[in-house]
Amino acid sequence: MREIRKGNFIADTEADTRALGLSIADAAEPGDIVALVGDLGTGKTALTKYIAEGLGVTEEVISPTFTIVKEYRSGRLPLYHFDVYRLSGPEEFYSAGAEDYIEDSGLSVIEWADIVADALPEDALLIHIQYADEGRRSITVL
Ligand SMILES: Nc1ncnc2c1ncn2[C@@H]1O[C@H](COP(=O)(O)OP(=O)(O)O)[C@@H](O)[C@H]1O
Ligand SMILES: [Mg+2]
Repeated sequence: MREIRKGNFIADTEADTRALGLSIADAAEPGDIVALVGDLGTGKTALTKYIAEGLGVTEEVISPTFTIVKEYRSGRLPLYHFDVYRLSGPEEFYSAGAEDYIEDSGLSVIEWADIVADALPEDALLIHIQYADEGRRSITVL
């Protein structure tokens, strides 16, 4: 991943979340991993949609809750969008074939990444999102 701005900021509107997503897409290199941590409704899927937009993905990005992972190949890099909410931990993540994706030369974005943290490389871009209030989110890029 090329350099992006690290630290905490308040996304006052969803437009700020979109700006972050577009900057991640710009900075993304083959094989990068983005680990998203935050409660339900904080905007993990929304951020992923904006990353997809920045990559130039033309398909509609739909939350992969029931499939664990969805692939989008119409952008600058393949996008592998995971939602591991229903997994019990890294073992189930491996049995779902996740290694093949995260070791591949696409961009992997993982919702609920705390559940599979032990399976992720240390250089994953870690993003924590917290609910601030209606429309606002506190986002920390580590
Ligand atoms: N600043 C913001 N950043 C991201 N999403 C926001 C923001 N303000 C409101 N939202 C809304 O919050 C919801 C987040 O939903 P979603 O992305 O599905 O969350 P998650 O995947 O974390 O469960 C969306 O309806 C989105 O429009
Ligand atoms: Mg989601």
